[in-house]
Amino acid sequence: MSTSDCQPSDYIVPSESEVVSNRQIGPGWYVLRLREESIAQRSEPGMFVQVLCSDGESFDPLLRRPFSVYCTDKENGTYDILYTTVGRGTRWMAALPEPENGEPPEKVDVLGPLGNTFSTPGADETVYLVGGGVGVAPLYFLALRLLALPSPPKIHFCMGARTGAFLQGIEDFRKLPIDTHVATNDGSEGFHGFVTDLFVELWKDAGSNESTRVYGCGPQGMNESLRNLSIENGLACEICLESMMGCGFGICFGCVAPIRKDTDSDFINRRICWEGPVFDSTLLCPGIEG
Ligand SMILES: Cc1cc2nc3c(=O)[nH]c(=O)nc-3n(C[C@H](O)[C@H](O)[C@H](O)COP(=O)(O)OP(=O)(O)OC[C@H]3O[C@@H](n4cnc5c(N)ncnc54)[C@H](O)[C@@H]3O)c2cc1C
Ligand code: FES
Repeated sequence: MSTSDCQPSDYIVPSESEVVSNRQIGPGWYVLRLREESIAQRSEPGMFVQVLCSDGESFDPLLRRPFSVYCTDKENGTYDILYTTVGRGTRWMAALPEPENGEPPEKVDVLGPLGNTFSTPGADETVYLVGGGVGVAPLYFLALRLLALPSPPKIHFCMGARTGAFLQGIEDFRKLPIDTHVATNDGSEGFHGFVTDLFVELWKDAGSNESTRVYGCGPQGMNESLRNLSIENGLACEICLESMMGCGFGICFGCVAPIRKDTDSDFINRRICWEGPVFDSTLLCPGIEG
């Protein structure tokens, strides 16, 4: 399925997800495991959930916060969110208690899954997953899905961070049968420089002419650089965008960015939450938003 074939989820009714665990994996980094059968069953890589980060009485903060689905366990009806604490909503999440001594689990009001998913690569394609910071979350779910294919592609995962201390979540990738590479801006771990430069170096070392498909998700600068590189080198590439969001399901137009419908059309305001968040890089505007 290509990204343009993907339809946003039709389900926009909030439901209660039970907190199973809320594990700190590094300074300010957490993995929240929630139980909600229908979200666990319907989530696909790239999709996100909108979490109401309040007790439901105060509605403060009012707007839900979007988070990519990190992985699912369909058998147990759970799904995970990898998140970093940056403000009120995520600090509220970090304080969610894990169930203890047989007490009933905390419940969180969650809407989703929302948005579209990534395409499936061809059997002969080599896949590069290029992630920056917490943008690695949807790429982990994608790696798991690709590895579950009858003929999994060769996968290189490249993660970039400011310093080695920000390479959180990397251990989960290292446990997978994929090639894992890291880049840090200060050279404290792995390749010294941007993750997109690391990607280009790996791709060139591999002969540059192999059939390649790139999937990316990261901060705006990384996404923009990946967009430019993929277009300059004619590489198939999809990028999962982030943006500030209001509703998360296409109503408020709070998340729009100039994105083309196809390569022959003009840039128009399209909703990252509804037509995305995954877009083919050739449809994105130079100076990409998100
Ligand atoms: C589709 C999508 C998927 C996302 N997936 C993840 C994920 O898997 N894990 C994760 O940790 N975060 C993810 N985010 C970002 C996450 O939604 C924000 O970090 C969160 O909303 C911040 O809420 P807050 O109340 O803690 O911070 P706020 O108090 O709202 O903001 C704190 C600071 O973060 C900035 N900020 C808030 N939201 C965003 C945003 N969307 N993009 C850039 N800067 C922002 C604000 O400008 C402010 O400077 C995702 C965002 C989108 C749109
Ligand atoms: S967040 Fe409301 S339309 Fe996208």
